[in-house]
Amino acid sequence: MQTLRNTELDVQQAAWPQYMQRAIELAGSVFTAAPNPRVGCVIVKEDAQAGDRVLGEGWHKGAGLPHAEPDAIADAHCRAAEARGDTPVIDSRRAQEKSLPAGSTAFVTLEPCCHTGRTGPCSLALIEAGIERVVIASRDPNPKVSGGGIAALEAAGVEVFFLSDFEDSARRLNRGFFSRLERRRPFVRCKLAMSLDGRTALANGDSKWITGAEARSDVQRLRAECDAIVTGIETVLADDPSMTLRPEEMGLSPQQLERNEHRFSNPPIRVVLDSQARLSDSAKIVLGSGRCLAYRLNGAGESAAAPSRYESRFAPSANVSDSRVSLPSVLDSLAGLDECNEVLVEAGATLSASFIEAGLVDELIVYIAPKLLGSDGRPLLGISGLDRLSDALEFDVNTVELIGADIKVTLRPR
Ligand SMILES: NC(=O)c1ccc[n+]([C@@H]2O[C@H](COP(=O)([O-])OP(=O)(O)OC[C@H]3O[C@@H](n4cnc5c(N)ncnc54)[C@H](OP(=O)(O)O)[C@@H]3O)[C@@H](O)[C@H]2O)c1
Repeated sequence: MQTLRNTELDVQQAAWPQYMQRAIELAGSVFTAAPNPRVGCVIVKEDAQAGDRVLGEGWHKGAGLPHAEPDAIADAHCRAAEARGDTPVIDSRRAQEKSLPAGSTAFVTLEPCCHTGRTGPCSLALIEAGIERVVIASRDPNPKVSGGGIAALEAAGVEVFFLSDFEDSARRLNRGFFSRLERRRPFVRCKLAMSLDGRTALANGDSKWITGAEARSDVQRLRAECDAIVTGIETVLADDPSMTLRPEEMGLSPQQLERNEHRFSNPPIRVVLDSQARLSDSAKIVLGSGRCLAYRLNGAGESAAAPSRYESRFAPSANVSDSRVSLPSVLDSLAGLDECNEVLVEAGATLSASFIEAGLVDELIVYIAPKLLGSDGRPLLGISGLDRLSDALEFDVNTVELIGADIKVTLRPR
């Protein structure tokens, strides 16, 4: 495999960044493909004389559905059939006919796989289709693949290039997938909403709604990107939230709704951290469609007679002096047992602070409403006891956006 930077591309390869950029856009057209990575593929017939022609495009929409490469091959055959005036293949995304025109190049955001899961190996699909060249933007961290897809392609005489300037964007697309495979824990985002003076509710607890409809719609999109929404039992007891995915509130186009059908029919797991087993069967978070999972301490609620409507999992406590479930063990189990790539923490001041103080938050998202709730309002986080400024928890600001009337700040722990 040859590694190339954009500045090292020759005249024939000049349009490669444009095709890879398109493949990244296609991959990003779904909120998630979890537990699989989001992958896009563009197949091009490169022709210096007649001009390049895009033959087909594809992307992966979710586990059990075609991977990006066979999807793009099928699209290429559909387009070719249409150009010939033939009736397009009935199941357009799964054409049986395989050979691509000689000299075709595939631009793929992730190294093609070489193992058989729910679908066949993509490297084999490309080889059988007669691809001549494959350009990738990132290697697959999955130990079942890692380098194996590249080796299989090269062994079959396919040229493989790594376009290294796209590696950051390609990894960002799948930061949860990379996190789960490389760190054995999901990528964790923590979302909070507060007033201008850092309060989340009035002293009497009234907090509905601090931020506007646009910010709440934006939070729906954050939920659509994650595989598990984690909250604390106190939020459930105080607010009885449903924590569901509501596509109708996301302001999506008909095309975005259609592309994300798989996501919406497979919503994120709703997770409640509930050390003492206080979650009731009638809580809205339990009753929504999809899975609801509660973590409790070993032994807590064991005498409960009736089986509950939600799944329970026992977790150890953080340490002997702590009577609350250990957050690393919760993340470990969500990554290992549920293959969660991304987790969204939507909790109150106590649990959010625990995640941050434990260094388990990879991205903090704060919505700031232009309102003052007063100094007797409830604080954003339950963090106290800092004596020196040098003990302050520090963040780098990634982005600042205006969402309706509110400000959205995205930060990374320093
Ligand atoms: N502004 C916002 O963005 C936002 C978001 C969500 C909620 N809220 C508000 O927050 C309020 C509730 O906040 P809260 O701080 O009382 O509750 P919380 O943070 O939602 O839940 C805290 C509870 O989680 C459980 N927990 C389990 N393991 C834990 C661990 N390792 N570390 C910390 N907690 C753990 C504990 O109860 P057990 O010991 O019983 O397990 C703990 O009391 C609600 O009124 C809600 O409206 C605000």
